[in-house]
Amino acid sequence: MVADVVKKTFYRFYLFQPGLRLWHWVQFLAILVLFFTGLYIGDPFFIGSVGWDATQAPAHDLAMGWVRLVHFAAGYVLLFGFLYRIFLIFTKKSHFWLIIPKFWKPWFWKGIFEVVLFYALIKKSHIPLIRNPLARTAYLFVLGLILFEIWTGFAMYGMSDPDGFWAKTVSSWTLPLFGGNEYNLHFWHHVVAWIIAIFVIVHVYMVFFNDFLAKEGELSSMASGVKYFPEGHFPADCEDVADPKECEKLKRD
Ligand code: HEM
Ligand code: HEM
Repeated sequence: MVADVVKKTFYRFYLFQPGLRLWHWVQFLAILVLFFTGLYIGDPFFIGSVGWDATQAPAHDLAMGWVRLVHFAAGYVLLFGFLYRIFLIFTKKSHFWLIIPKFWKPWFWKGIFEVVLFYALIKKSHIPLIRNPLARTAYLFVLGLILFEIWTGFAMYGMSDPDGFWAKTVSSWTLPLFGGNEYNLHFWHHVVAWIIAIFVIVHVYMVFFNDFLAKEGELSSMASGVKYFPEGHFPADCEDVADPKECEKLKRD
């Protein structure tokens, strides 16, 4: 078999600096740990009967105290990661605009329409976009959900130490918002954990789908920081990541 080699020219967009890529993967690991330790905290028997009584349990690996410690440690990682992602907004144009849904731009709505048809396998391609409008909206939404988990998580954490920092700064005003009932906090923290899990499944599916069909380097972009667009496929949202004059020039070339 001969390799299918085609000579083509590509626009190369450097989008994610190393800090953003590192943040993405650290956040991924933290959420993985938080999700499974969280499920265990909510229902220790979801992995089957553990079988140690309270006196014996601390000597064994899945003692609740240890699992909670891991959950809280990952919670701190998520908190500092989130603050770092806010800081990154000020360091690169794309780190800000690629998570802002531009409802006021015509290409945004055209993009939504075409992207839905593309993922539904009805259309073979959609208008070229560095980040499609559905993805932008989903990322802003999931960052909101992550913030919700951090907020409710530290509010519950504060309740186990009523004189501590988190009790005074977060739990004190959060509990009344949840009807003064700690159970409601647990309930919503648990529900949102599952919504994040669903996002992750769809997110990974879409990243692979895009890489398979569009072949613009989607999957590797969170490793290399770069996406590629073949000549004739100039992205409509170039101005969100580069100087508008540079985009005009590239479009004309
Ligand atoms: C807990 C799990 C995950 C969460 C919460 C998550 C969240 C996100 C967010 C918020 C972004 C936007 C980054 C930004 O510009 O700020 C993003 C982008 C991206 N993620 Fe994930 N991610 C997760 C797991 C994964 C996994 C497992 C993969 C690999 C298959 C992946 C691949 C990517 C890629 C390639 C992008 C860039 C795609 C684009 O530009 O639209 N993610 N992710
Ligand atoms: C995406 C991030 C997170 C996920 C998926 C997650 C998941 C969960 C789940 C499923 C539970 C069990 C709720 C129940 O049924 O009672 C839980 C409990 C809890 N989580 Fe999280 N969590 C996250 C972030 C955090 C953060 C940032 C903190 C802050 C320290 C935190 C602190 C707690 C606390 C204090 C509990 C209750 C522990 C107990 O009852 O002993 N979580 N978490």
